[in-house]
Amino acid sequence: MDPYQASKKTEEICRLAPVIPVLVVHNPDIAKPLAEALISGGLPVLEVTLRTESALDVISEMAKIPGGVVGAGTITKAKDVKDAINAGANFAVSPGSTDNILEACEQQNLPILPGAATSSEIMRLFDLGYSVQKFFPAEAIGGQSALKAIGGPLPNVKFCPTGGITIDNAKGYLELKNTLCVGGSWITPQRLIENKDWKSITALAKTASKIVF
Ligand code: 3PG
Repeated sequence: MDPYQASKKTEEICRLAPVIPVLVVHNPDIAKPLAEALISGGLPVLEVTLRTESALDVISEMAKIPGGVVGAGTITKAKDVKDAINAGANFAVSPGSTDNILEACEQQNLPILPGAATSSEIMRLFDLGYSVQKFFPAEAIGGQSALKAIGGPLPNVKFCPTGGITIDNAKGYLELKNTLCVGGSWITPQRLIENKDWKSITALAKTASKIVF
């Protein structure tokens, strides 16, 4: 899939909901109820970070659930792309963008939300055809004011800012012209996951899904 097609697909995914929960899941047994809790709360797009040993099993389980769109996050090398596809991921998310990752996604037809933090990184990706990017780590690199400023000279790049987003600042991001959605882990606090408190997670998802979009 060429970068233009990938970005088109990624934009469709980013427009499904205002927030993409960023998930760190250690136990594959809870993949199904966790995904169901989020989807029923109005957040169908899920990013499972490849930061736990079980992440690929978690993606496999979540990919079977109707109504969900499951991404593999924390893609840092070409092998992750292959693993994500084999697990059933619908898209990839990377904190930054290397040639190896971009080429692997292109060759293996996996849409990617590639990470960028500076104007040069954003311009390089845009030059390659990636018009939808992850702005990461959003709060640490200037947050809303940086993203707004970037939209001046680079109005044709759209973003999913991630990193430090919370219920308190998400709305401000979503009101920016160049923000399609935001990513964040605040919807799935580890305490609630450990307690299998699916009701509270659905409640957090519901609130997030209703932020202006
Ligand atoms: C990540 O990859 O960890 C995301 O950027 C999530 O960041 P957050 O925990 O600050 O929401």
